[in-house]
Amino acid sequence: MKNIALFGATGSIGRSTLDVVKTIDGFRVLAISGHKNLKLLHEQSMLFRPRWVILTDENAAKDWNFELPVGSELCVGMKALTQIAAESDVDIVVSAIVGRAGLESTIAAAQAGKRIALANKESLVAGGALVKQIASETGAEIIPVDSEHSAIFQSLQAGKRKELERVILTASGGPFFRLPEKDLKNVTLDQALKHPTWNMGAKVTLDSATLMNKALEIIEAKWLFDLDMTRRELEVMIHPQSIVHSMVEFHDGAVIAQMSPPDMRLPIQNALTYPERVSGGPTKRTNWSIDQTLEFFAPDYSKSKFDALKLGLETASLAGTAGVVLNAANEMAVTAFTRGELRFDEIVPRVRKTVEEHDFRQNPTLEELTALDEKIRKDFR
Ligand SMILES: NC(=O)c1ccc[n+]([C@@H]2O[C@H](COP(=O)([O-])OP(=O)(O)OC[C@H]3O[C@@H](n4cnc5c(N)ncnc54)[C@H](OP(=O)(O)O)[C@@H]3O)[C@@H](O)[C@H]2O)c1
Repeated sequence: MKNIALFGATGSIGRSTLDVVKTIDGFRVLAISGHKNLKLLHEQSMLFRPRWVILTDENAAKDWNFELPVGSELCVGMKALTQIAAESDVDIVVSAIVGRAGLESTIAAAQAGKRIALANKESLVAGGALVKQIASETGAEIIPVDSEHSAIFQSLQAGKRKELERVILTASGGPFFRLPEKDLKNVTLDQALKHPTWNMGAKVTLDSATLMNKALEIIEAKWLFDLDMTRRELEVMIHPQSIVHSMVEFHDGAVIAQMSPPDMRLPIQNALTYPERVSGGPTKRTNWSIDQTLEFFAPDYSKSKFDALKLGLETASLAGTAGVVLNAANEMAVTAFTRGELRFDEIVPRVRKTVEEHDFRQNPTLEELTALDEKIRKDFR
């Protein structure tokens, strides 16, 4: 039996993780966290009876008036995440908080040498060098949950790391792939929240619409797989069907892809059970008795609608403080868009401007990253 601490249980990845745990054997939920959704956190507590129920938002905790099952303890505040990540009974930390808020608990899990099922891509975007360094010192395993990175992780097992030619990161293209560039300025929040193939939380859905999600994933892939960006070890291809979740090309020209229906529960399950593959999980199978069409388009980098991809490639090459700035500026720009303070087509240029104008440093400490993250958010208008 493996014990899971699920951070971000009330979110889209968190709920999918609980679906997986319900349907496969061998996993117990030892801790769950939620931020504002008290009702769902309570329902999940009643169902899974975890030892620790963490409510990270201290203000929301004032409204908590639920009974917990016998044996469950309520813990309040972000600090509880870092403490529980280090508990000796915890085997796997599922890092499924959205945004930069997931960084400290991911670092705590790395420091404690745990298996980290990593959905929170922002923690690698902001602190990739640190997280990787800590994990290499403690032996913590980082198993990607993001479907593209899970696909790369799985495909890489067909060869040796030194035989890798390149990684081909696929992108659905989001809802506006076929929209003329001139119409992007009129995109509304409702339109941006409708993803053609994936059902996800609001922030990652908006990031998918601007393609900033792919920028974050480029940086995430660089850190996860130690990719050399100057040797172009990463390419992006638009694949609107979201069936091929990414590919790996080896030196002999062989390309290995991982395919499955667009459902996050499979990569989550793989991150929990790796190196085993188990049956009985909740993901539907591909229907091989009907015709299938898989398309791939190379992004046209001369078009401004693909600027997020260019920015992701540049930021991954720069490393240092560029990632934390890109991430903070993006979180602020997305929030501004949701409030009607920024147009959809202004998001990526604002993020680019912030990255280009910041005071770049190559080897920041965690304290420096945190200070810079706060400064970017404070100065953002
Ligand atoms: N959804 C997907 O299919 C998908 C796919 C690939 C990668 N990811 C990545 O997985 C992560 C989670 O995405 P999601 O779509 O599951 O997000 P989501 O549905 O918005 O859920 C976010 C979770 O984080 C909690 N949370 C929000 N703000 C927080 C804060 N400041 N401190 C602590 N906890 C906080 C939320 O709690 P409350 O709801 O209780 O407020 C919720 O449990 C993101 O990094 C995303 O990029 C998601």
